[in-house]
Amino acid sequence: MYISTTIILAFAYRAFADSGAAFLQDGSALYSSDPVSLTTDANCVENGNCDALDINSDHLSSTLTNYAKDWAHPPKCIQSQNGTDKYCLYTHHAFANSRGISIFTTPDKAARLLELPAFTDETAHTKVNSEPDPPYEARSLPGRGIGLIANRTLHKGDHIFSNTPVIMVEEWIFSEFEEAQRLPLQEAAILQLPKGAHDKFMALHGHFGTNPYDDNFNTNAFAIEIWPNDEDETAYNVVMPEISRLNHDCRPNAHYYFDPHTLTHHVHALRTIYPGEELTISYIDPAQALVTRTTALKTSWGFDCACSSCTAPPPHAAASDARIAQLLALQNSLEDHAPLTNPGDGVGAAELLVSLYKQERIEGPVCEAYSLAAHEYASVGDEWSAVKYARLAVESGLLYAGPDGDDVVDMQELLADPKAHWSWRFRERKGAESDEEDEEADEDEDEEGADEVEKMPVEAEKENEEGKEGQFEGAAKLMQRLESERQRLKRKERALDEL
Ligand SMILES: *[C@@H]1O[C@H](CO)[C@@H](O)[C@H](O)[C@H]1NC(C)=O
Ligand SMILES: *[C@@H]1O[C@H](CO)[C@@H](O)[C@H](O)[C@H]1NC(C)=O
Repeated sequence: MYISTTIILAFAYRAFADSGAAFLQDGSALYSSDPVSLTTDANCVENGNCDALDINSDHLSSTLTNYAKDWAHPPKCIQSQNGTDKYCLYTHHAFANSRGISIFTTPDKAARLLELPAFTDETAHTKVNSEPDPPYEARSLPGRGIGLIANRTLHKGDHIFSNTPVIMVEEWIFSEFEEAQRLPLQEAAILQLPKGAHDKFMALHGHFGTNPYDDNFNTNAFAIEIWPNDEDETAYNVVMPEISRLNHDCRPNAHYYFDPHTLTHHVHALRTIYPGEELTISYIDPAQALVTRTTALKTSWGFDCACSSCTAPPPHAAASDARIAQLLALQNSLEDHAPLTNPGDGVGAAELLVSLYKQERIEGPVCEAYSLAAHEYASVGDEWSAVKYARLAVESGLLYAGPDGDDVVDMQELLADPKAHWSWRFRERKGAESDEEDEEADEDEDEEGADEVEKMPVEAEKENEEGKEGQFEGAAKLMQRLESERQRLKRKERALDEL
């Protein structure tokens, strides 16, 4: 399963907020925006003898039961309409060298989170949330607010900074609860943080001009997964205030991934960055047509994309769109491992795919093209080229998705023993009846491989349909797209498990 952080298109939440702007105004008036004083009382932190925050809402209940000493305040909980799911707010003050974190999730998941190295390993956050000698300086840029400018040369793979979230909210909460229920807890989540984290969150830029706790959250949240192998996957939306200092570029020079074990977001250089260049990340999937990208950026962050790929002259922009359309089509068909009339075509298609990523200067996600190329070369028994592309996939994948990324894990398996990898000679095994002399060791794989090849076209059609529907069509579609992407990855993972 892919562990990747995606900046959430914040507008998606609005799809569920049928109570609309009128409520928000009422809501803002109801809840005080002054920070409350934080609990420093040891008796509270250690024994749970705390005064609950006075939150003015009928929907809130405060409970002292199941209150681990780890949490700095008694959890505040809300129950979903039909009473089956309970979600609570937990705040931990010592987390990540006392930066603190607020987590809005179910009690059982809160307990599981406490077992992560993020909470149990004292060394988990060395050099995290700390930038003693940064390779950049913050400058005010015309029309772009504050940006980070490199002040020395950074090479591909160089670490830029690492941060932990100050708030983590389980994604279901946004679909299960109305604003009236969840907003007071979102506010309390921030008010209960240590002052440093609270102030950084409140200093963020909100785009929608609504309740600042909700607005700053929606404008700056990333979607992450902690337990990607769980039966029912749980996504969290998290905010790391520091990442927001990086402005957008459709062809960025930096990328980030989220490490679910330490709850840390790492940012690295994707290519050589020279002194004087602004450090940038992409707020959206860069492999989308120009109009899709500019619309998404305008809708969710309110700015007109001015990066060089958004402002290219029309013939150049059209050529870029054509490359991206071909890139997406090739990637879809290679990912499906659909049968080919000529097995060697896969290699040519994969080379073209890699070239399209390069032509488009898409440096992070190119790891997906490299790993498809490794599969194709392995599939026809070209070990040298398979290993070359697997190495390239690992190099880029570590920056794009981190050590737990799908492509990185898969490619490391290929590197460990190319001939034992599931993709080894799979193209040649199609129609294997003529190949009776195959080595015994290969036989089981052969059969499974053949099944796989037959199954794929059905999936391919399904996914193509989803792909069309999933094109950016405004707010209501975005959540669906996230969901269908998750389903797609789940299917892919199952297909791999079966092998
Ligand atoms: C309760 O609500 C949740 C979320 O809306 C839903 O998944 C679940 O099926 C519901 N259960 C019942 C008994 O209605
Ligand atoms: C770059 O800027 C930072 C301040 O953000 C400073 O601490 C650092 O020393 C500078 N490095 C160089 C090489 O100028």
